[in-house]
Amino acid sequence: MKKLLVCTGGGDCPGLNAVIRGIFKTAKKTKEWEVYGSIEAFNGVMAEPTQIIKLTKAKVGGIHVKGGTILKTTNRGNPLQFPVQDENGNIIFEDRTDVLAKKIKELGFDAVINIGGDGSQKISKALFDLGVPIIGVPKTIDNDLSATDTTFGFQTAVQIASDSFDKLVTTAESHHRVMIMEVMGRDAGWIALHTAIAGGAEICLIPEIPYDIKKVKEKIDSRYEKGRGFVNIVIAEGAKAKGGNVVGSERETVSEHLRLGGVAYQLSYELKAAGCKPEIRETVLGHIQRGGTPVSYDRVLATMFGVKAFELVQNEQFGQMVSFKNNDYCSVSLEEAVKDYNVVNPESFLVKGAKAMGMSFGD
Ligand code: F6P
Repeated sequence: MKKLLVCTGGGDCPGLNAVIRGIFKTAKKTKEWEVYGSIEAFNGVMAEPTQIIKLTKAKVGGIHVKGGTILKTTNRGNPLQFPVQDENGNIIFEDRTDVLAKKIKELGFDAVINIGGDGSQKISKALFDLGVPIIGVPKTIDNDLSATDTTFGFQTAVQIASDSFDKLVTTAESHHRVMIMEVMGRDAGWIALHTAIAGGAEICLIPEIPYDIKKVKEKIDSRYEKGRGFVNIVIAEGAKAKGGNVVGSERETVSEHLRLGGVAYQLSYELKAAGCKPEIRETVLGHIQRGGTPVSYDRVLATMFGVKAFELVQNEQFGQMVSFKNNDYCSVSLEEAVKDYNVVNPESFLVKGAKAMGMSFGD
């Protein structure tokens, strides 16, 4: 029997389990492969003793509807920047991919499928360059990978954010308030933009279009002057004022991004400072957007990504990442996969269309 190793890395995302199930079911059907899972990304391989589990029907059956990942995940312990102590006891960071590649080989794996976002696919590429037969599967709720038209988790995040937005509209209306809802997405405004359009927000602020606080206030004032008496704003966590900075807290490890969060409060403060009279309330949705069961669209996408990933393994097309482009399942090289980010184009029809509907981007 050949041995396939699967792991999930980076932040969790609804649909990860559906990918694992897609891989497992198609691999088992061949009767040639045993499927294993490394616990907490590649940490399971690096650990002594290793933390690797054999996937079975009992472990994988029905998991496609479950959020999170049965293999656990982490955005720490990146083998490209692995924390070690130097002779003075200080923490320094080393590239440990060679050690990881050696270990994967020693453990006798014939193929690896790495499910993760941009950071994880950079690890996949480094391992492939060291001769590991590896396939990448893209994952991110942020929809910020350019090598695929979409990723599983995104639709679920938008659905959760839209449901929350709808709830905030009724309370905004009752209290004549300005409601600011902050959503995730890092440096991309996709979740914010889709949620704002789906919910009918008056204002949508995204990283790709730095806002002018005067313009935001003007839009609010015009709504109150027209007697509408309430305003709902969606703001992406990575949004910033023209000439301003993103809002976040210091990262704890070198491999972690700056932790974004709190821009809703910053906007609220700026609006009050600019003389905005109506009462303002802020909601930061946070990790709710990543939790729970994936919507059907994401289950389908994730399942097919799993099936496609195993097809690539069978065909020995290593060094590729599964992709969904032009309504079709395909693959791109890992090199291509990590080249560019996918951010909202301010000149796109989506932005122009939202503006045509009366939405302000504060520009
Ligand atoms: O990339 C997914 C994401 O949820 C971002 O939208 C967010 O900025 C980040 O991860 C949060 O990361 P963590 O789970 O480490 O707080």
